[in-house]
Amino acid sequence: MIWSRITGTGGYLPEKVLTNHDLEKMVDTSDQWIRERTGIAKRHIAADGQTTCDLAEVAARRALEAAGRSAQDVDLIVVATTTPDKIFPSTACLLQQRLDVHGCAAFDVQAVCTGFIYALGVADKFVRTGSARCALVVGAETFSRIVDWTDRQTCVLFGDGAGAVILEAGDEPGVLSTHMHADGAYETLLHVPFGVSQGYDKVCEHHAYYVEMRGTEVFKMAVNTLGRIVDETLEANGLDRSQIDWLIPHQANIRIIQATARKLGMPMDRVVVTVDEQANTSAASVPLALDTAVRDGRVKRGETLLLEAFGGGFTWGSALVKF
Ligand code: UT7
Repeated sequence: MIWSRITGTGGYLPEKVLTNHDLEKMVDTSDQWIRERTGIAKRHIAADGQTTCDLAEVAARRALEAAGRSAQDVDLIVVATTTPDKIFPSTACLLQQRLDVHGCAAFDVQAVCTGFIYALGVADKFVRTGSARCALVVGAETFSRIVDWTDRQTCVLFGDGAGAVILEAGDEPGVLSTHMHADGAYETLLHVPFGVSQGYDKVCEHHAYYVEMRGTEVFKMAVNTLGRIVDETLEANGLDRSQIDWLIPHQANIRIIQATARKLGMPMDRVVVTVDEQANTSAASVPLALDTAVRDGRVKRGETLLLEAFGGGFTWGSALVKF
C-alpha cells in the first residue's frame, strides 16, 4: 500500500507588519477590541508589486530544502489560493516556471480558507494512486489585495503569507485521512460579490472587488462545522480524541480555535496558534501554522496532527496526519 507523507515544510511572511495600532489610524477600531474579539495583534502585508507567487516561491523553496529535495524531484504542483497573480495561467503554473520544473501537472485549487486542506486531499490521492511520488502543495495568499481597508468589520482580520509542504510516497502511514465538505447554499456569508465573468466594467462600477462577510453567522457556522468534522475524522480513523498530539487549526479567530480545542478536550498548549502574529492568511494559515510548530520544535516526527479549516463557499475540511 502506498501512503503519502509530509517530508518537509516551509513558510514565508512578507516583511511589512501592520499592527492593531496602525489600524487605529486607518479605521474606527482599537487594539483592545481586535485582541479581545479575535486574538489578533498584527499581520504581515505584501509589499507593492509582491504577488502571491512571490510568497509561494519562498515557502516552496524552504519546504524543498527541509525535505532534502530539489525542484527537479517534484512531479505535481498544487497551489491553494483565492488571490492568484493572474486569471490565467494558474499560480501553480507560474510557480512551476519559477522553479524551472517542466512537464508535471500543476493546477490551482480554490476553496478559500479551506484551500490548503483541499489541496492536500487532492495531492494525497495522486500519491496514493501512484500518479505522483513527490508533490509540492502550497497555500498562498495576498488577501490584503481584496480587503476594503475602510471597512473595520473585515480589514482587521486578514494578512498575507504562504505555507508549503512536500508530500512523498512511502510505505509508512503519513496522511491518514482527509475530509472535504462544501455547502454552496451559504455563498453570501463570506464572498467577493463580483468576478470576471460578470464583466470588468460591473466590478469597477460597483467597486465590488472586496471581501464581504456576515461575521457572526460565519462564526457560528465555523464552530458547528468544525465540531462535526472533528467527530468525523476521529471516527474514520477509529481514534479517541486523547490520541491527537496537536491541533493545527485555521487561524481566523482565537475564540473559534478555543471552541474546537474544547470540543477535542485539548489544552491550549497542544494547539498551534499563530493568529496573534499573522492574522487570517486564508489558504496559507494551516501550512504556516504547521511550519511554525515544526521549525520551533513543538511538532515532532511520529506525532499525530489534526489539521482543520473552514471558509467561503461555505467550505470546511480536515486532515489527520502522522507526521
Ligand atoms: O476564514 C473565515 C474568515 N472569517 C471568520 O472567521 C470570521 C468569523 N467571525 C468573527 O471572527 C467575528 O464575528 C468578528 C471578529 C468578525 C466580529 O466579532 P463579533 O463578536 O461577532 O462582533 P459583532 O460583529 O457582533 O460586532 C460587535 C460590535 C458592533 O458594534 P455594536 O453594533 O455592538 O455597536 C460592531 O459594529 O463591534 C463593532 N465592531 C468593531 N468595533 C471596533 C465590528 N468590527 C469592529 C472593529 N473595531 N474592527
